[in-house]
Amino acid sequence: MKLIKTSTYEALSQMAAAQIISKIHANPRLNLGLATGSTPTGVYKRLIQDHEVNKTSYKQVNSFNLDEYIGISKKDHNSYHYFMCENLFDHIDIPIDQTHIPDGTAENLDEECRRYEQFIQEHGGIDLQILGIGQNGHIGFNEPGTSFTSRTHIINLAESTRKANSRFFESLEDVPTQAITMGIASIMESKEIFLLVSGDSKAEALARLVNGEVSEQFPASVLKNHKNVTIFADKEASALL
Ligand code: F6R
Repeated sequence: MKLIKTSTYEALSQMAAAQIISKIHANPRLNLGLATGSTPTGVYKRLIQDHEVNKTSYKQVNSFNLDEYIGISKKDHNSYHYFMCENLFDHIDIPIDQTHIPDGTAENLDEECRRYEQFIQEHGGIDLQILGIGQNGHIGFNEPGTSFTSRTHIINLAESTRKANSRFFESLEDVPTQAITMGIASIMESKEIFLLVSGDSKAEALARLVNGEVSEQFPASVLKNHKNVTIFADKEASALL
């Protein structure tokens, strides 16, 4: 794992965005894996700015999101579909039918998991996957204890994850209890991975990732087994390294 420490969140976002943009220029048909949450929003803002100013085009890009809540419709403001449209898709030229997110309202959720997994493979797999990390080490919504051999699956969200994400909802009760997430094995098949880590609330997780052992009890530790991972961490997140 390569670690890039930056002085600020802005610098982290700038650096990661610049690398994503250069990869899109090198391969306009990039299969780009995306994450939601607070951490990547700075990167998405810079991708939008660059699209407006430098006209970087996403017309041939396919995007694949990591996860989606179960039981929340696409139009709901708390869905990851909505989040991605607001924070990225509506502001760049990616055709909406080339943006892919698991459907948390599918009638047959097991079938939806199989479909999404197969769909990514049929598209040739993910070239570059953007990840954030949970305080408990989750990647995607793969909570501690998830098998490293897991494929896209249904997960029961940890209480700590629901609490952390309740900031986006009116109350904790409104936070779904389940999500569909790409599995650990699905994520590990990405050719390259950028892990974005920001803020002092992530300092312990980052220190455990860098210094700790590889264990299913700390899902992000699996990234140590991947050949092409870059961690972008700001000063606060790097405080315990
Ligand atoms: C989101 C996702 C999660 C987040 C993680 C960190 O699609 O898969 O793993 O990346 O929960 O979230 P933030 O960035 O809000 O701290």
